Amino acid sequence: MVGYETHDYDVLVIGAGGAGLRAAIEASAGGAAVGVVTKSLLGKAHTVMAEGGIAAALGNVDDRDNWKVHFADTMRGGQYLNNPRMAELHAREAPARVRELEAWGALFDRTRDGRILQRNFGGHKYPRLAHVGDRTGLEMIRTLQDHGVHQGIDVHMEHTILTLLKDGERVAGAFGYDRQRGRFKLFRARAVVLATGGIGRAYQVTSNSWEYTGDGLSLAYHVGATLMDMEFVQFHPTGMVWPPSVRGILVTEGVRGEGGVLKNSQGRRFLFDDIPPLYKEQTATDPDEGWRYTQGDKSARRPPELLTRDHVARCIVREVREGRGSPHGGVYLDIAWIKEKLPNAAEHIKKKLPSMYHQFKQLADVDITREPMEVGPTMHYMMGGVRVDADTQMSDVPGLFAAGECAAGLHGANRLGGNSLSDLLVFGKRAGEHAACFARERGGVAVSEDEVEAAARRALEPFERTSGEGPYQVQRDLQAMMQNWVGIVRRGDELRQALDALAALRGRAANVSVGGNREYNPGWHTALDLESLLTVSEAVARAAIERKESRGAHFRDDYPQKDEAYATFNILVRRGADGEMRVERAPRPAMSPELQQIIEEMK
Ligand code: FUM
Repeated sequence: MVGYETHDYDVLVIGAGGAGLRAAIEASAGGAAVGVVTKSLLGKAHTVMAEGGIAAALGNVDDRDNWKVHFADTMRGGQYLNNPRMAELHAREAPARVRELEAWGALFDRTRDGRILQRNFGGHKYPRLAHVGDRTGLEMIRTLQDHGVHQGIDVHMEHTILTLLKDGERVAGAFGYDRQRGRFKLFRARAVVLATGGIGRAYQVTSNSWEYTGDGLSLAYHVGATLMDMEFVQFHPTGMVWPPSVRGILVTEGVRGEGGVLKNSQGRRFLFDDIPPLYKEQTATDPDEGWRYTQGDKSARRPPELLTRDHVARCIVREVREGRGSPHGGVYLDIAWIKEKLPNAAEHIKKKLPSMYHQFKQLADVDITREPMEVGPTMHYMMGGVRVDADTQMSDVPGLFAAGECAAGLHGANRLGGNSLSDLLVFGKRAGEHAACFARERGGVAVSEDEVEAAARRALEPFERTSGEGPYQVQRDLQAMMQNWVGIVRRGDELRQALDALAALRGRAANVSVGGNREYNPGWHTALDLESLLTVSEAVARAAIERKESRGAHFRDDYPQKDEAYATFNILVRRGADGEMRVERAPRPAMSPELQQIIEEMK
């Protein structure tokens, strides 16, 4: 018998970033006894990497903005593969969620007349991102944490969940362990909300920190939930590229929103060379028009640096491949140039982008008020995830909900910057509310002790093996393989090689061994993370093989065009009865005539 401690909740929330905290607050407000489990320390979440702002059509800077324009922008950015109902709810509810956050104590930068200031971001027609400098995600987490602390929510920090448990068809809780002492814990719960974020650690160059190994997606998949849109992996165009120790750290899109421009080694603003037809009419034709747009000139069109992330990232890859990159394999991002336009440019940059100023000064010895930054794409966000009901956020497994980055549907083939933070607030709230309701209506659950014992024994296997390799090399090889073969530019033959490589890596993972004991053992944690990494990586590769076209963040060198036949369905990934991964196509959710009309009008 392996010992474990048991906790009982109405609602268990796994993950404590923006979505998890917002869900926990709402579930608790709905009268549920709520437990939150977080892999890391409270407050340390990828939410803080959404630096530039929260997208919400408040219309404070440009009163032409409203939820309909936001909805249409989100659908266009997602290449119309988004779940339209989710995009509608998101656009309609984001302003209320931002105001609520402000009422809970969040500070925002202000317009001259005291309203929440909004900035430009890629793919958003009007200045829409409510922000505080370049630390918006941090402010959001701080506020939600402060608010949540007073709700009597139990928080289990530094815990990893190993498996979800079921009672018949419905979810019944989760089993995991405390990462410090290695003690097992059973969390029995009437409803579970997954809010575990993304899969960044499946790649070599990423803005995600060590926690993001796709746990929620893998947990859901293994208990029968459906994953969707797994081929759509977002590479943010601007991560640091130098020095090597900081490669991948995010350089906020806010830099471009404030007038920063991208140049190649020849000093050319290469984004002017390639404007996608979908955005041609909205894009400036010369640098001066682009600058006027960033300064609020309503008659000007946006600069090409504010095209969608998928496009900008691919253009950077092209410049580097064709020999016009910077010395360390990126391109130049220049905000210092605005001194030609603004007398107090250095102060302005430090005020608007304080974290970027310090990040480059301290990590790369670059003063961004004087010199350009070297930047390149970094894996930042997963559009795919657990398929959920648009209104309730419940997955195909009764009682299992998902919100935020680990849920699919809102963003389609490509997410617009800033839509992540509003996503967390809107759908975190909805998931919490409906999970509490489910727990209230459906009553108690029982869990199988045998299942729990089996999960504990599996977790301890790496200690019992004496001859296997360590887990770190397996993780590193997986990351390198995903970066090379399932990255920004993909090809059918490489994707198939990736599947073979994943099978070999799975074999190695099944044999890893770790030394020491369960206390403070990072090797053991890494060994246990491999299951999630392998599951999500295989799902991405299989979905990418299935989509034989290029759309949004999924670019196939062997099918470089969009194929309208592929516009009609989403790709699903499920676990078959034989335990093998299955890929299916599902018709895209229908759009109501009202929403259809909005899309037409906005075109
Ligand atoms: O560039 C950024 O500040 C990132 C924002 C986001 O991913 O939403």
